[in-house]
Order: sequence, then C-alpha cells, then structure tokens
Amino acid sequence: MSRIAYVNGRYVRHAEAAVHIEDRGYQFADGVYEVCEVWHGKIVDERRHCDRLERSLRELSIRMPMTRAALSQVMREVLRRNRVRSGFVYLQVTRGVARRDHYFPSPDTPPALVVTARNVAPETGDKAAEAGVGVITVPENRWDRVDIKTVGLLPNVLAKQKAKEAGAKEAWFVDANGYVTEGGSTNAWIVTKDNTLVTRPAEHGILKGITRQVVLDMIARNGLSFDERPFTVDEAKQAKEAFITAASTLVMPVVRIDDAAIGNGHPGELSRELRQQFHEVSELEPV
Ligand code: PDD
Repeated sequence: MSRIAYVNGRYVRHAEAAVHIEDRGYQFADGVYEVCEVWHGKIVDERRHCDRLERSLRELSIRMPMTRAALSQVMREVLRRNRVRSGFVYLQVTRGVARRDHYFPSPDTPPALVVTARNVAPETGDKAAEAGVGVITVPENRWDRVDIKTVGLLPNVLAKQKAKEAGAKEAWFVDANGYVTEGGSTNAWIVTKDNTLVTRPAEHGILKGITRQVVLDMIARNGLSFDERPFTVDEAKQAKEAFITAASTLVMPVVRIDDAAIGNGHPGELSRELRQQFHEVSELEPV
C-alpha cells in the first residue's frame, strides 16, 4: 500500500507529493505546523493542537486554509488512507505560493496546506523511555517568537544534530542567564530532591507545549508539588529526575545531561508514572 499525502486540495501518493518552488514555506520558512500523536485509533489532543495552530497563524497574519471542521476531516482522511492506528499526523500551513518578494503576497493568495501521516508503533517510544535519553546543552540562539510554531527550525535542526553526534537524543537551549529554555523539539522538566516538578513558564522563550499542558493536568489530578519557574543547567544536573515532553516523545525520562548522570542514571519514578498515566488525561478523539 502506498502512502498518501494531502497537498492543497488533493490526496496524492506520498512519493510524488510536491509543493511549488515559490511556496513561501520553501523560500522564507513563512509557515507553521502541528504534530499530533495518534494512539490506538484516536487523535490525541486535537482540539488543543488546532487551537494552537489557529493562534500561530493569527500571530503571523496567515489565514486558516479551511474551517476547523474541514481540517479535522482532512486529518482523518489522511489517517484512514494511510491506515494509521498509532503514529503521527503532521499539518503544515504556509502563506501560499507567490513570486519571491519579502512583502506579504496579495491577500487573495490562498494559504498552502499539507497533511501527512505515519505509522509508528507506541512500543517504539515506550522502549526508549525504559532506558531514558541523554541531552546536551547549547546556547539559545533562536528568535524571541518561539511561542509561534513556525517551520523556521534551523537552530533546532543544528542543535539536535549536535546532540545526535554526541550520542544524545535532545539538545536543551540555555539562555544568557544560564537558564534552560526548552529542547530542540521538546519542553524541559526537572524533579527536585523534594519531589517538586519544575518547568519554565510558557509566556516567553518557549513553545507552550500541549504535552506540557497535559502534564500540568496530571500534576493537578495527582496533587503533586509544582513550581513554574526557570531552572539552571546546574540545578538540572543535581535534580532527582529530568524529562522532556512533546507529542512525538510524550513524557520521556532524561538520564544524562551533558556528562552528568541524573539521579541514579535510570528513569525516575515520577517521570515513569506520568508517562504511564498520559493517555488517561489527554483528550482522545476517534479517527
Ligand atoms: N515539537 N518545544 C518545541 C521547540 C517543539 O518543537 C515542540 C514540539 C515542543 C512540544 O510541544 P507539544 O507538546 O505540543 O508537542 C516544545 C514537535 C513534536 C516537532 O517539532 O516534531
């Protein structure tokens, strides 16, 4: 069975799916995206991902390419055509196709929409979580609107590649004051020795992760101790536990930061528990 992608109104074979060379996403990274997990035939947190998509678009004055209801239908159709039960659905909206010119194209230029989906067995992430992952730290070098989920991800790409070459999974950006902002494609968390969960406030300097929000909901549900504040690399290295969150990783234990082992070098108890509870608390919508 060949993979199918949705590209600007058509369902096409993935191998032949293409956008125009003057798509502004291609030329200027002038677009935004979302990644939703799909878990046993359910789309995870679709509502919140679509809310954030709308917000990202609004911040950049790009129109929604279609109504939310229509978008939801396209996502489902792509998932069905690819027979995805568990994996991911990816949406990308750009400012559309126009002659290369930095100024916005005329307002009647339709935004471009691409939707793809891919099967990934849930056990893949679960296996990685059993061992935990390593992170490296890199200087923050991104623009100050990382709250918008744009496809302009070059600093993230370079940071994550550096992590990979160092045998790690993720890179944590560190701001000029020594505080961790977030990972290249994940939010960053620690658990202090007194079992307080700590993550940076989402007003500035990070993407407000949907998975992060689900963890906040789990914290409330379980009555866990929580402190929303920045933390330094040094504090993280001394922490009892650390983990990262994203739709692509869920709650993923961190067992090493640079050369420092976290806790006993194995996934922490709270991180494991939060990962286990995740789909009881996230919103699940049938495909
Ligand atoms: N990344 N921070 C950054 C920079 C991200 O790119 C992501 C998501 C997150 C976590 O957000 P959420 O919990 O809503 O997935 C935080 C996606 C998965 C990606 O780029 O593949």
